[in-house]
Amino acid sequence: MKLVKEIPDSDSQEEWLARERAHLSQVLYRYTPLVVDHARGSYLYTVDGRRYLDFASGIAVTNLGHGHPEVIRAAKDQLDRLVHISVVAHHEPAIQLAERIADLAPGKLDKVFFANSGAEAVEGAIKLARYVTGRSALIAFQGAFHGRTYGALSLTASKSYYRERYEPFLPGVYHVPYPYPYRNPTGPGDAATLDYVFNFIDEMLDTRVPPRNVAAFIVEPVLGEGGYVVPPADFMPRLRKLCDQHGILLIADEVQSGYGRTGKMFACEQTGVVPDIMTLAKSIASGLPLSAVVASGRLMDQWEPAAHGSTFGGNPVSCAAGIATLDVFTREHILANATDKGAELIRRLRDLQQRSPAIGEVRGLGLMVGVELVGKDGAPDKALQKKIRQVCLDSGLVVLSCGAHDNVLRLVPPLNISQAELDEGWEILNGAFQEVAA
Ligand SMILES: Cc1ncc(COP(=O)(O)O)c(C=O)c1O
Repeated sequence: MKLVKEIPDSDSQEEWLARERAHLSQVLYRYTPLVVDHARGSYLYTVDGRRYLDFASGIAVTNLGHGHPEVIRAAKDQLDRLVHISVVAHHEPAIQLAERIADLAPGKLDKVFFANSGAEAVEGAIKLARYVTGRSALIAFQGAFHGRTYGALSLTASKSYYRERYEPFLPGVYHVPYPYPYRNPTGPGDAATLDYVFNFIDEMLDTRVPPRNVAAFIVEPVLGEGGYVVPPADFMPRLRKLCDQHGILLIADEVQSGYGRTGKMFACEQTGVVPDIMTLAKSIASGLPLSAVVASGRLMDQWEPAAHGSTFGGNPVSCAAGIATLDVFTREHILANATDKGAELIRRLRDLQQRSPAIGEVRGLGLMVGVELVGKDGAPDKALQKKIRQVCLDSGLVVLSCGAHDNVLRLVPPLNISQAELDEGWEILNGAFQEVAA
């Protein structure tokens, strides 16, 4: 055994990837083979000196771009003061950030539990829901992605290979269809879609799981990994009403849609609905690990001390970055930029759709934008998704995909993207469509 091993540094991405294959588990799928050395603002720089415009934002995490100076300064200052204290004691950054989130969150959602990842926030939310209701059943949506830990994975239904060979899952979890007007089995249109979904739910509550057994519905206000589907406007209000009728809690998973991604601080604000519990993660500390379960004091105060916990959750450095992140949101008018640039991107894409039959649907809110790619028969076209992403990458633009059939381009640029950067990305994306989908 050698404690110190001399390994030469390299500027070859291939060499780094070979070393990675030797010692890093390959279970972690990556969207690109890029080996990134550093990143600033909207750009990534690889070890071999190439520059890429980033329309992925670390999967909707670096919403303020990479390395925002104010966030970095706050994190560095906190590193000098206190890195970790855990449940040994209390600390100011967690208290201050909780106050700030309570001020921003809709309705009476004014108490926060901090964790580290989205999946952990989901675990916390479903434990809280079961704990305070004394009920066990949980209802999630087909197409949902809530994370990879066992509780969260039991709720996840966006791709069956995420679940392959992992059964049995958490008992008491039921799935119902998410309103997806473009592929609604009983026909297009919002009304038909909502009838289909709520008839399914009613039938399920009549025949399979009595409402009084149900602790919570968990829902993404805009479906993320499942295809960037924006549900009809009436969906969340109807779901809220159904929950209220039966004393069921409503959990909004805002891990991806929250923190300005849709142009509002939280996507549920687009619907006028206040959930009982909200989960946040990804972008809340601009790239440092942090997540949160947010609920009303009335609910949170029933979760008794030590009924849940975490060693690293609410780390002081992450919380300091979280506070700075919120300062930047206000000072730099991030929500307005996300709304304007998102509308501009969607307008251009819809224009392109007129000339490109391969685009089945363009949908989104703010800078959470999906482009569903289809073949001549309207079937999902994953092969085209791959081709377009490859052409984009070869031209210096990083784009993600999503959807149950992996045929949706997922456009997630930083929320503070400039007009020049948006134009640069658009040129590349538009060029890719001309090259492979004209
Ligand atoms: C809506 C939603 N919930 C939960 C998660 C899980 O988050 P994490 O990967 O941080 O565990 C994700 C991740 O993509 C997500 O999009």
